[in-house]
Amino acid sequence: MILKPFRMWATFAALTLVLAGPTATQAIAEDDAYPKKNPLAGNEEAIEEGARLYFKWCVACHGKHADGVSRFGDYAADLRKFWRGYPEFVRITLNGRTDRQMPPWGGVLDEDEISQIGAYLETLQLEGAVWVAH
Ligand code: HEC
Repeated sequence: MILKPFRMWATFAALTLVLAGPTATQAIAEDDAYPKKNPLAGNEEAIEEGARLYFKWCVACHGKHADGVSRFGDYAADLRKFWRGYPEFVRITLNGRTDRQMPPWGGVLDEDEISQIGAYLETLQLEGAVWVAH
């Protein structure tokens, strides 16, 4: 009888840990999950590999100049003018914007490969592009 409230408390505490634990960790992880700037920026090998990956996975919609113009017309985003900073680049590429026809690449590309694509895109950037997060 005396144990009962304790048991209830213990169950509650365990449940809280199970439910809130991962969420709390994720919330923290999300804030600084990705570095402020691309660790592979300017790396020749990464740029080359990134170009290869870009022309494999992204070119169909973002076009061969990465200007968003493809056989579908002026349809996807102009990635030469990407301005949301590197962490957002990783996040958007991983998760996509499925409500706006940008597919998620999380199951296809790992973070390293996304960095390589980013390193390639940085070489194409136009005025107004921002790759380093504030
Ligand atoms: C099926 C077509 C398609 C493919 C393939 C595709 N995208 Fe996209 N992407 C889009 C569209 C459409 C948008 C614009 C979505 C919007 O309006 O928010 C977009 C937007 C983006 C954005 C956000 C740009 C911004 O300024 O907010 C990034 C980053 C991006 N794509 C990266 C990539 C990368 C990297 C690849 C290759 C791994 C890729 N996309 C492949 C269709 C595509």
